[in-house]
Amino acid sequence: CLLLQSCRLHSKRLPLSRLPVIYGHRLASTDSGSSGGNAAPNRLNNASAKSLFLCGQEFESDDYTNLTDRIIEQVNCGLHRQRGHPLWLLTNRIVGHFNANYTRSRSRPLFTVVDNLSPIVTPEQNFDSLLIPADHPSRRPSDVYYLNRGRLLRGHTSAHQCDLLRQGLDAFLVVGDVYRRDEIDRSHFPVFHQVEGVRIYSQEQLFAGAKDSADSLRMFDRSRNRTDEQQAGHSVETSKLLEHELKSCLEGLARRLFGSSIAYRWVPAYFPFTHPSWELEVRHSQSDGGEADWMEMLGCGIVEQRLLDGCGLPNRTGWAFGLGLERWAMQLFSVPDIRLFWSKDPAFLAQFAQPCQPGADLWQPVQYKPISVYPPCPMDLSFWLPAADASFHSNDFYDLVRSIAGDLVEQVSLIDEFRHPKDGRMSLCYRIVYRSHERTLTSEEARTVHDQIAKSAVTRLAVQIR
Ligand code: PHE
Repeated sequence: CLLLQSCRLHSKRLPLSRLPVIYGHRLASTDSGSSGGNAAPNRLNNASAKSLFLCGQEFESDDYTNLTDRIIEQVNCGLHRQRGHPLWLLTNRIVGHFNANYTRSRSRPLFTVVDNLSPIVTPEQNFDSLLIPADHPSRRPSDVYYLNRGRLLRGHTSAHQCDLLRQGLDAFLVVGDVYRRDEIDRSHFPVFHQVEGVRIYSQEQLFAGAKDSADSLRMFDRSRNRTDEQQAGHSVETSKLLEHELKSCLEGLARRLFGSSIAYRWVPAYFPFTHPSWELEVRHSQSDGGEADWMEMLGCGIVEQRLLDGCGLPNRTGWAFGLGLERWAMQLFSVPDIRLFWSKDPAFLAQFAQPCQPGADLWQPVQYKPISVYPPCPMDLSFWLPAADASFHSNDFYDLVRSIAGDLVEQVSLIDEFRHPKDGRMSLCYRIVYRSHERTLTSEEARTVHDQIAKSAVTRLAVQIR
C-alpha cells in the first residue's frame, strides 16, 4: 500500500490495518494550487447546509459531502508557493535539479512546471482517467474529501496527468496540495503536497541516444504479451530503456538531494495507471540512534498505454512518478512532526529563511532544531458503536477530533476493541494524545477539549460513551 506521507518514519513498520487505502500497493514487499486568488473565503454554508464556498465558487452539497471546516480552511494555502517555507525550498531544489539536467535546445528547461492547478477535481480526473476501477476502495467517501458526488479534493497530483498530456505537454512537473482522509499522527496530516513528474517520448526521442542502431529499434512490438516486466505491445528495448530513464532520473534526484552516498533500493509496486511500477526506498538512520530503516520515498512506473491512447497519444510511450514533499522534507531537514509545516511560528520559519533569500544558495544545508518540547497529555475515550456498527468509520472520528482539537491533537490511535458477548454491541477505545507546540498544556485544558470531543461524538456519530 503506497502511502506517500511518512507512515514508517518513526516506527519500524505499521500494522497493515493502520494503513489507509491509497492508489496502489507494493507487490512483493522486501521487508514485509491554487485556482488564483480566493475571491470569497472558503466556508461551509451552515445556515442552509445546502452549499459550500471553496476557491471562490459555490458547490451544492449532497449525500457525498464530507468536507469539514478545518479542511476547508486549509484548501489552497499554497505552502509550496510561499517563498521561505521549507516546502517552497524543497520544491525549488527539485525543479532546479530538473532544469539543470534536462533541457531542450538553447538550454530551455525540458520540464514545464505547473504549480497552480485548483485542487478541486472531478472523479473522472482523480480516478477514471487513471484507469482506477469503479469499485476501487480509494474512491470511498471514508477515504476521500468530496464536495459532492461530482467534485472532490484531489487525492494525488496524478489527477492532472491526462489533462496536461491532452494539452500537448510532453514533460512536466505538477506541484500541489493533495487531500486524504487519514489517521492522525506525527507523520500523517489530511493535507499534504506532491510533485508529479511525467515524460513521454516519440520513437525518435526515445532512441535518440542509440545513434547507429536507432533505425533498427522499434518502439512497439505487437507480438509481445503483458508480463511482470513489460506491457503488451511494447518492444523489449522500449521497456528496458524507459525503465532505465525513469530510474536513473529518480536516482539522480535522490542523490542530488540526500547526498551521493545515500543507500536506496527499488521495490516492485502496483498502480492502476502504470506498469511495471516501483517504489523507491531510501535508507535512513533513526533519529534516536536506533537501527537504520528503509522508507518509501515515491511511486513510479511506465505509463499504461491505454491511458496514453485515451489521451490521443497512441504513438508515444513514457514514465511517471509521484513523490510526497512533506516526507522528503522531514527526512532532509530533520523535521520531526508533519504539523510543523503548517506552523506560522516565526521561530520555525526563520530556520529555512537563509537559503530562500533571492540570490542565496538554495542548496546550503538546513537542519531543523526543535524550538522546545512540551509534554504530551494522553487521554482515552471508550464508546459503544451504534447498533448498525458498519456505519461507523474511524476516519469520521479522526475528522471529528481534528475539527475540535485542531493542532492540539498529536495522535489518535485505536487501543482496544471489544464485542459484548450478550448483545453483540461493539466497543472501541481510542487514545488521544494532546500536545501543544507553543506551551505546556494543563490537564484541565486537555480535559475540556476531550469532553467536547466525547459530547460531539455522541451527537454526530451516535455513539454511547462508556
Ligand atoms: N499517484 C500515486 C500516489 O499518490 C503515485 C504515482 C504517481 C505512482 C505516478 C505512479 C506514477 O499514490
